[in-house]
Amino acid sequence: MSADFTKSVFILIITTIAVAAFSLLVWVVPNLMESDKLRAQSQAKPLTAIEVAGRDIYISEGCHVCHTQMVRPLDPEVKRNGRPNQESDDIYEFPNLWGSKRTGPDLTNLGRKYSDQWHAIHLINPRQVVPTSIMPAYPWLFEQALTGDEIEDKMEALRTLGVPYSDEDIANARLQVRGKSKGEALIRYLQSLGVDTSEGAY
Ligand code: HEC
Repeated sequence: MSADFTKSVFILIITTIAVAAFSLLVWVVPNLMESDKLRAQSQAKPLTAIEVAGRDIYISEGCHVCHTQMVRPLDPEVKRNGRPNQESDDIYEFPNLWGSKRTGPDLTNLGRKYSDQWHAIHLINPRQVVPTSIMPAYPWLFEQALTGDEIEDKMEALRTLGVPYSDEDIANARLQVRGKSKGEALIRYLQSLGVDTSEGAY
C-alpha cells in the first residue's frame, strides 16, 4: 500500500502547501491586481488628524465590539442603516472596523444623524438621551486631553500603507490634536462616518 497523508508527514506538508498556495492564488492575487481600480472608483476620503485620533479611541474603548460598520445589501438593513458597504469604501481602513456583533446599531452611515452635542451627552451618559440604553457611559473621555505626541507617527504609518497624506498634513497633525479632549476627537470621527461615501442615509 502506498503512503497517504494520514501516514506520511512529507505528503501532509506538501498537500498543505499546495492548498494554501491555491487559496492565495484565487483569493489574494486577484485583489492585489484590482487595487488600482478600487482606488479609482472609491469616494473614500482619508481621515483628518483629529479623526485618526478619534478612531484610535473608538478602537481602544472597544466600541467595535458592540457596533458594526458593515451594512449588507439586504432590504431591511438598507432601510435601517443606509447605503450598503462597497469594497472600495475601505481602501484607507487599517484595520477595518466591520465588527461582528450588533449589541448596538450599525454605525457605517452615522455621520449626519445627530449633532455634536447629542453625541457628547450620549457618550457621557447614554441614558440621558435614550432612557432604555444599555450602552456603557464614557464620561472620562471628556476629562482627558490628547497630547498629540504620537499622531505624526501614526499618520506616517498610514501613509506607508497607502493613505495619501502630504508632508503638510503630517506636519500640521499635532497642532490639530493637541489639547483636544478624547471625547471631542471621538465625536469628530463619528461625524465623519459614511459622509464621504454615502449620499446621506439620514
Ligand atoms: C456594551 C455594548 C456597547 C458598547 C461597548 C458601545 N455601545 Fe454604543 N450603543 C450600544 C447600544 C445598545 C446602543 C443603542 C441604545 C443607545 O442609543 O444608547 C448604542 C448606541 C450608540 C450610538 C447611537 C447610534 C444610533 O444610530 O442611534 C452611538 C453613536 C454609539 N452607540 C457610539 C458608541 C461609541 C463611540 C462607543 C465606544 C466609546 C460605543 N458606542 C460603545 C451598545 C454599546
